[in-house]
Amino acid sequence: MCGIFGYIGPREATSIVLDGIQKLEYRGYDSAGIAMINDGVLCHEKEVGKVSRLQEVVSAKNWETNLAIAHTRWATHGRPTQGNAHPHLDTQKKCAVVHNGIIENHDTVRHLLEKRGITCISDTDTEVIAHLIAYLYKGNFLRAVQRALPLLKGAFAIAVIHHAHPGEIVCAAKESPLAIGIGKGEMFVASDSGAFLKYTRRAIYLGASEVALLTEHGVEAFDAQFAPIEKKREELSHSVEEASKGDYQHFMLKEIHEQPQTLQNALLARFSRDYGTATLDNLNFSDEELKKVERIVILACGTSLHAGMIAAHMLEEKARIPVEVEISSEFRYKNPIVKDNTLAIAISQSGETADTLAAMRELREKGARILGICNMQGSTMAREVDSCLFLRAGPEIGVAASKTFTSQLIVLSLLSLHFARMRQMSQQEGVLFIDALTKLPEQIRQVLLGSGQIIEIAKKYAAYENFFYLGRRYMYPTALEGALKLKEIAYVNANGYPAGEMKHGPIALINEMCPTVAFCADTYTYPKMLSNLMEVKARGGKVLAIAPGGASDIAAIADDVIWVPPTLDELAPVASTIVGQLFSYYVAKERGTEIDQPRNLAKSVTVE
Ligand code: M6R
Repeated sequence: MCGIFGYIGPREATSIVLDGIQKLEYRGYDSAGIAMINDGVLCHEKEVGKVSRLQEVVSAKNWETNLAIAHTRWATHGRPTQGNAHPHLDTQKKCAVVHNGIIENHDTVRHLLEKRGITCISDTDTEVIAHLIAYLYKGNFLRAVQRALPLLKGAFAIAVIHHAHPGEIVCAAKESPLAIGIGKGEMFVASDSGAFLKYTRRAIYLGASEVALLTEHGVEAFDAQFAPIEKKREELSHSVEEASKGDYQHFMLKEIHEQPQTLQNALLARFSRDYGTATLDNLNFSDEELKKVERIVILACGTSLHAGMIAAHMLEEKARIPVEVEISSEFRYKNPIVKDNTLAIAISQSGETADTLAAMRELREKGARILGICNMQGSTMAREVDSCLFLRAGPEIGVAASKTFTSQLIVLSLLSLHFARMRQMSQQEGVLFIDALTKLPEQIRQVLLGSGQIIEIAKKYAAYENFFYLGRRYMYPTALEGALKLKEIAYVNANGYPAGEMKHGPIALINEMCPTVAFCADTYTYPKMLSNLMEVKARGGKVLAIAPGGASDIAAIADDVIWVPPTLDELAPVASTIVGQLFSYYVAKERGTEIDQPRNLAKSVTVE
């Protein structure tokens, strides 16, 4: 987590780096800081809160400099206080470090430093890096950083400046992303190339244990043995999309309302109705390879995991391929069995989730081919996988995923169709599937037009502190996703559960203070769902049902019903999820929580 941005060049650096870390706020936003060198003096400033707070403080200082580094933090070690914010400096304030990742052996290093009379003043794992570099510095800044790195364990990326080297930024990466932007007479370093895209499109990415020295004239890169290396320069193709809220109060609401368009984008030119099949031109796997796939392993976290669970159902049902869905953070510590013809599908909006990257690397080591499903071009995932299908959802600024989830569902539906048509699915079935898919954007427009009813229902339920979210079959992961949204943005406890499991224990929690949000749009299991909801009602629980139009018997059981347009069971998660998103959004609004940047969260989870 955390975002790093550095600049060296002829322009005034403070405003550039502050703008840079603002673009990286999706990686964390509990505190921010900046360091720069002015007339040989290392100056720094740190503030608790968002980057805008730091901007206010720094603008009053009228700093002028051509070199600066900055940081936006998501706390891992130590509370979000001014003292724990980055940059961290050595005792004599000669060098400053910004850091993303975790130094796992910080305690050991801290004790080593203490034995040499150097005491850390913060609770962070980062501070030891600054002391270590200062301690090892003997006139050559680059060499001091290079000598410090082998003493640090963990996955991290750093950028460092030193008061005696006002024309240099030294940066290093070990299993954490770090992009270097190459401008004309100016250089940038950032956790994500998107942050410097408006200045330059030429970039290199630092790999494992590599170090780079940036001056305004260029970049020199070195491997872990200090030997110079030639890094491949990449031309960034993604566009500079300046996100704005437009007339919406929050990015999340805007992103929810963008879904008719983002679904359309995800579908664009990716199917042939005549043949009833998907046309995934960018899929770098031959039909022969795909026909041979005997097992699929899906890797993902959070919302992407829920998309993976829905896709697993679809792939098994339609393409008859066995699929395992694995939580990346658990899977990375397994010793996976990879037989021939295993395909891994890694799903990640950001393409930077540390656990998913580690899990997919583990599978690749063992011989699996990897297909990425990702929104961010240029991300680590997009660069490392054998093939990548992009969501084309545009930047998602709200920390809680909304439009990217439904785009994941569309891309995964197309992929399932592709596999299914290669196996036993008929052309006619394929055409029906495509017809249902292409109706979705219009159906979602209808759902969004019904927001007024959802606002009223959200007001009615906003004061409850505990919810159950229930569903069966395709609606079970949909319920999990609905519950996650409510937790994330409204800070309300919501327990996502398969409805059939309630009787095995959780039903003990049902009472009039614990309502159930029931996802009923899986027609195959609908009658069973009704029985489960009767059981809830019999115990005094309130029921808010999200059900397909025409399924009138639910109205006699539920306290409230929100209708969604009927579709195929496997595509029903899209509309039902959007109702769930709107419900969570309006509950959160009613409760006055911070919706776009909820407490304790970050958009990209780049530490394990
Ligand atoms: O970028 P990824 O899709 O890999 O992110 C995975 C999760 O961190 C993410 O979905 C998270 O759960 C979101 N906050 C969900 O709203």
